[in-house]
Amino acid sequence: MTASACEYIPGLANVPAAQSSISYVDGKKGILEYRGFQIEDLAAKSTFLETTYLLIWGQLPSKQQLADFENEVRYHRRIKYRIRDMMKCFPETGHPMDALQTSAAALGLFYARRALNDPQYIREAVVRLIAKIPTMVAAFMQMRKGNDPIQPNDDLDYATNFLYMLTERIPEPLAARIFDVCLMLHAEHTINASTFSAMVTASTMTDPYAVIASAVGTLAGPLHGGANEEVIFMLQDIGSVENVRPYVENLIANKSKIMGFGHRVYKVKDPRATILQGLAERLFEQTGRDEYYDIAVELERVVEEKLGSKGIYANVDFYSGLVYRKLGIPTDLFTPIFAIARVAGWLAHWREQIGENRIFRPTQIYTGGHNHPYIPMRER
Ligand SMILES: CC(C)(COP(=O)(O)OP(=O)(O)OC[C@H]1O[C@@H](n2cnc3c(N)ncnc32)[C@H](O)[C@@H]1OP(=O)(O)O)[C@@H](O)C(=O)NCCC(=O)NCCS
Repeated sequence: MTASACEYIPGLANVPAAQSSISYVDGKKGILEYRGFQIEDLAAKSTFLETTYLLIWGQLPSKQQLADFENEVRYHRRIKYRIRDMMKCFPETGHPMDALQTSAAALGLFYARRALNDPQYIREAVVRLIAKIPTMVAAFMQMRKGNDPIQPNDDLDYATNFLYMLTERIPEPLAARIFDVCLMLHAEHTINASTFSAMVTASTMTDPYAVIASAVGTLAGPLHGGANEEVIFMLQDIGSVENVRPYVENLIANKSKIMGFGHRVYKVKDPRATILQGLAERLFEQTGRDEYYDIAVELERVVEEKLGSKGIYANVDFYSGLVYRKLGIPTDLFTPIFAIARVAGWLAHWREQIGENRIFRPTQIYTGGHNHPYIPMRER
């Protein structure tokens, strides 16, 4: 449906806000493609950095192009000591998403040149953001524990290095690979609230750090990026496999939502959830099952039995929370990790937007009054 001049569509639901060749979703068939490549193929064969290149520049890189991109990202992982000093002043009780939004915006102070028509500038901005966002997330995590941040390790690949900066341990290759796939699965998903926010900010031709800071702020809300945290709280609340069925029945009777299930677009199982389910099984097989996993398996079975006929299945957040928790990642970092991944999609939309820009300027339907007489203060 398209909006006519005077039709108001709350939330702009289903209103096309752009023409885009970045990603494609078919919610009825359960298809997700990045630049025409199926997510299943990318998850099986690609890496997060290769997928990032594909999303932003529109084609798979050659061996040399990928090596160059990886090296540039590796070289730019460190953050300036003044940004670290600024972060040290953040309250340790603050949410990591607020810390990330502030730090991302601060990059604009340090890299102030703006040359949106220069491909080299675009490349540098992309590399800096992809490289530094994980370092900033991990640095805040260390600093709030009272530690100095752990410096990026040039010998480690993107995913391994992030988990190392976070936990001080070099993860097992399977854990790092699964984390890398999680990043790929979250890298892009057409136009949602945070991507739209990035596009609106980009359309003013401001700098890319402001674009990403806007998007991070939008992702931070519980209606957008926070569902995988809620899944963990729900599994905690359920407490045991035996409690799954009565818990689900109670939620359904009260018309409450079961976290990690259902999707605005997918009416079959989210293809990302299917991929993650397989990865979670491998991870738990290797590192040992725990009660959370057993509760989750039973929960999916019961919800499918009760709500599958309504098109409600597990979504990507159901499994990503489980995987992150198993990797030892604190719950309040789940949304910042979503941001680390989605920065790839946001940058792709930034580039697409400024390539053929028109500033966003929707209209409104005014519902207020007119021509009120001004009443002097003493008479009010
Ligand atoms: C994602 C979500 C907002 C999509 O919602 P939506 O497409 O607008 O669907 P609606 O909220 O209109 O729900 C349609 C029906 O399915 C039910 N439903 C949708 N998701 C449900 C869930 N997770 N648990 C129980 N019932 C659910 C609704 O109650 C409604 O039932 P009704 O027709 O009998 O009233 C919704 O599924 C949800 O809140 N899920 C839980 C949070 C979550 O996991 N979010 C992450 C999404 S990636």
